Amino acid sequence: MRVQVGIVGAGPAGLMLGHLLRRAGIDAIVLEHRSRAYVEERVRAGVLEQGTVDLMNETGVGERMRREAMFHAGIELRFGGIGHRIDFRDLVGKEVTVYAQHEVVKDLIAARLAAGAPIEFEVSDVAVAGLDGARPQIRYRAKDGRDHVVDCDFVAGCDGFHGICRPAIPAGTIATYERDYPFAWLGILAEAPPSSDELIYALHARGFALLSMRTPEVSRLYLQVPPDEDVAAWPDERIWDELDRRLHHAEGGWALQRGPIFQKGITPMRSFVAEPMRHGRLFLAGDAAHIVPPTGAKGLNLAIADVRLLAQALERFYRDGDSAGLDAYSAKALRRVWKAQRFSWWMTTMLHLAPDTSPFDLKRQLAELDYVTSSRAASTSLAENYVGLPFED
Ligand code: APR
Ligand code: PHB
Repeated sequence: MRVQVGIVGAGPAGLMLGHLLRRAGIDAIVLEHRSRAYVEERVRAGVLEQGTVDLMNETGVGERMRREAMFHAGIELRFGGIGHRIDFRDLVGKEVTVYAQHEVVKDLIAARLAAGAPIEFEVSDVAVAGLDGARPQIRYRAKDGRDHVVDCDFVAGCDGFHGICRPAIPAGTIATYERDYPFAWLGILAEAPPSSDELIYALHARGFALLSMRTPEVSRLYLQVPPDEDVAAWPDERIWDELDRRLHHAEGGWALQRGPIFQKGITPMRSFVAEPMRHGRLFLAGDAAHIVPPTGAKGLNLAIADVRLLAQALERFYRDGDSAGLDAYSAKALRRVWKAQRFSWWMTTMLHLAPDTSPFDLKRQLAELDYVTSSRAASTSLAENYVGLPFED
């Protein structure tokens, strides 16, 4: 088989890239080792930047999102038992959209299948070769057990942090930068109407908590826990009691709505960047190249920003025979990646308590929150990063 672009991975990065290339008349195949049902149900983040939403709308995959998503003009930062609103619309004239990542994935898969564009699920033994030459190859075993070789012009490594594309780059030609955090998030989905119209990020002497949501009937909540925590140590009652404590509102009149918990999981927190995001004819995008801790809600949005740039560069190459966009891809993508890394690290360290947090550190973190919520300049900085920095073309 021969295609212009071989895409490994059907997460948001691979699917959006396939979608943008199809619209530009560039043929691609998407290869995914999980099943369609698995990727369509995988619970991940749920906050979309304006730029992500605009891209979905402009390219014809925003219809269900426009009907079902929730539009938020701000967030609340809660500390010292008091809530402080950061008003995005007032500060930067933008909003964020709450729409689960797996819903984005469903919409992109539906669009690809409706267009009859190639996508294969449950493939195995995926391997890439010939990245330094003009005709790279992807080998894989299809669901029916048959082996295939795809000859491509380019390979897009959109296969997430644990994929095979980044490790295929020869050691010594790629640098990695990382930081682990001494805590993790215990996340739940509950059949409970959200207790707030907007997200609440809370810092309490017992640690961080986040109130988020999926629909008007389903709440998504998180608690900071130790990194090696066993989810079995957290029966439902304990989770709700701890959320109650950390989200406590001193002025009263606010209560956390409880309901049956139907999903529970622990997510480690990591910052990671591989650079450059290219080796020969392999281009990395999304989690394959970088991971952010979830506090800034940037992971999915960064993946979309990467493939937007990559699709533009490939389009320019096929339309004009000009490889300048491809040559600039890594440096351009990394400028956004590092700013999102900075923001995610900053939100994370401001809002969590590390095991070695001293009383001084806690006071300093509270002063930072006080500053961020009382200075218009500081609130504006948070707001413009949270809603997403403008795309640079
Ligand atoms: N062969 C084929 N597919 C693979 C392989 C492989 N060897 N290894 C991994 N995959 C698939 C995974 O099953 C997954 O569906 O690649 C996909 C990668 O998708 P994501 O992990 O979702 O990564 P990405 O598309 O970059 O999305 C960005 O933002 O919110 C964050 O981490 C969250 O998933 C999110 C990410
Ligand atoms: C989520 O709803 O899953 C969510 C929201 C905000 C974050 C992270 C995750 O910062």
